[in-house]
Amino acid sequence: MVKARRFSELASCTMRRAMARILLPAARFEGRFRVPGDKSVSHRAAILAALAHGPSRITGFSPAADCASTLSVLRALGVPITAVDADGGRDVEIDGRGPESWRSPAAALDCGNSGSTMRMLAGALAGLPIVATLDGDASLRRRPMGRIALPLRAMGATVEIAEDGTPPLRVSGGALRPLRHRPAVPSAQVKTAVLLAGLSAAGETWVEEDAATRDHTERLLPLFGVEVLRAAGAVGVSGPARPVGAKIAIPGDASSAAFLVVAALTRPGSVVRVERVLLNRGRAAFLEVLRRMGGDLSWGVESESPEPVGWIEARGSRLHGIGIEPALIPALIDEIPALCVAAARAVGRTEITGAGELRVKESDRLAAMAEGLSRLGLAVEERPDGLALDGRETLRAAELRAHGDHRIAMALGVAALSADGPCSLDAPECAAVSFPGFFDLLERGARRG
Ligand code: S3P
Repeated sequence: MVKARRFSELASCTMRRAMARILLPAARFEGRFRVPGDKSVSHRAAILAALAHGPSRITGFSPAADCASTLSVLRALGVPITAVDADGGRDVEIDGRGPESWRSPAAALDCGNSGSTMRMLAGALAGLPIVATLDGDASLRRRPMGRIALPLRAMGATVEIAEDGTPPLRVSGGALRPLRHRPAVPSAQVKTAVLLAGLSAAGETWVEEDAATRDHTERLLPLFGVEVLRAAGAVGVSGPARPVGAKIAIPGDASSAAFLVVAALTRPGSVVRVERVLLNRGRAAFLEVLRRMGGDLSWGVESESPEPVGWIEARGSRLHGIGIEPALIPALIDEIPALCVAAARAVGRTEITGAGELRVKESDRLAAMAEGLSRLGLAVEERPDGLALDGRETLRAAELRAHGDHRIAMALGVAALSADGPCSLDAPECAAVSFPGFFDLLERGARRG
């Protein structure tokens, strides 16, 4: 399919005119924090509510630009949504009238920077009599969509993508057959897309996983009245299924909390507490890894359903390098940039392997972190599927580049706290893709005396 002229330039953080930010070093990083609502859970809650019959109320919905993309795409499909900014997040009400109320949009759907929006909604659309084109910003237009097109085509949907497997992605949905799918690469987005498509296929649709990925979809489906089928290494749904409206409070984003935790661990004498944060094992594995690095960390679960939620406390620590093996990667996939910063301050060598997926995230995160850490004075060995680096006591002040990627911007922002002078970062506004206000919060917690 020929790529249409891009239309999301203004909304795209990668295209906004860069406004560099000066980042000052800090002696310590301290405070009690709440982080914005979890991005992964927010996307899923909104999509399930939009597919449901009956009203849903989502409190603490993520204010992230990515989640705003999901809401605006759902609106363009005809779903009635009200979103009001409230204390501690966004209150979203969705007046679900079932998938039969969704309409073919008049124009291409702008998913902005959000791979989750594009991949998950492709799955939701596949079983509906709708023709829709999903498009996005320059970063999203480079990301692989064959992994979604393959199973959705096998179920009977027509899915067109560019020859090189990238967006725009045009879905012509219709009657689907159920599928048993084993993704070639572990991916919760692919799992979710297939399960959402499975809701409208007659029969059982299963996704098999070699390595468990985040399980938010499986946890939320029962809340919306849909039974989840389980077998060893596989989850499924039995279609056609009819979700019903639900109420859900979204906990703080575990991946956002990771940056604050690493900021505390890497500055001696710091103490940080993060409240009401998601502690799902498929997302909080970074805590175990940081503890293995010698991090002085504790956390506790306060409530379990539908997601484990609790607190994290982190203190300045003497970290040491470790090996982060392939089996751990799926549960750490978004936290590798933050873990690289912990490694940069650790004594000895850290080696990350089996993380080739990071090359097809919002940026090539292995290359972007290797560049940033090298500029900060570290000897970094970039490998096809990982990085190896030896930590240092003090990092060198540098001009840093976010590569238009929110997690790279935040990771380098945290690293800059340990520099021997002011750093600059080219595009700090990118953090708003998952964590609006991140750099102001980093500044609030920084102690200079
Ligand atoms: C996500 C899954 C991961 C992750 C992304 C969010 C999700 O992507 O990197 O930030 O919410 O399911 P993959 O499924 O491509 O690994």
